Amino acid sequence: MVLKRKLSKEEEKVLEKVIEFVEEKHHRAEGHDYSHVLEVCKHSIEIARKIKEPVDPFVLLAGALLHDIGRVGAKSGMFHGIDGAARAEEFLESLIKNTATIHRITRIIVRHTPTSHIPPKSTEEKVVSDADTIERLGFMGMIRGIMGKKGTMEFIIEDRVHKRLGDYDRLFFSVSKKMAFPHYKETMNMSNTLKRKLKERLGEIKEIESYKLIKEEGS
Ligand SMILES: [Fe+2]
Ligand SMILES: [Fe+2]
Repeated sequence: MVLKRKLSKEEEKVLEKVIEFVEEKHHRAEGHDYSHVLEVCKHSIEIARKIKEPVDPFVLLAGALLHDIGRVGAKSGMFHGIDGAARAEEFLESLIKNTATIHRITRIIVRHTPTSHIPPKSTEEKVVSDADTIERLGFMGMIRGIMGKKGTMEFIIEDRVHKRLGDYDRLFFSVSKKMAFPHYKETMNMSNTLKRKLKERLGEIKEIESYKLIKEEGS
């Protein structure tokens, strides 16, 4: 189903304000920057165009634009869905009178992430959740997942691969799985290369150690 209807002039004006707000807040954000937000918007529109269920374009775009606002300036992403919804609610109240519409948008923000422990329910919530997962499954998502992580390289790679496998299985729409597959393959190829390099490195270390032993024996 193509998006339910066209945006009204009023909605377009509100979205322009939301874009301005989101661009300014995410501009210097680490990892989840403005380009991540735009990718999630792009994937959301593509999923919405391909599924059978009707989708409200205004609620969808406002939710996709604001979905990670809770990450800005936050030390961890643990509560970014719930915190983001509170931030967005305050901001949206200055632009929209209809509280039901505001809640439809803030619920997208709360439920887009498994860290909130509240699964997406409405079609718009599921679409943004899938769009975010597709972005996370790709190369950039993998790099972002590695950034700043503690532990051995092997552990970090294994942990990321394990999480991405779970993400792929959790996608709601078959259309999303189709869209996600090339990104998913890219990530798997990348992790296989990293694992192979680590193995080679381990072999080199063993080789160097054996030289040392020969040297010690000879002396
Ligand atoms: Fe998020
Ligand atoms: Fe996100």
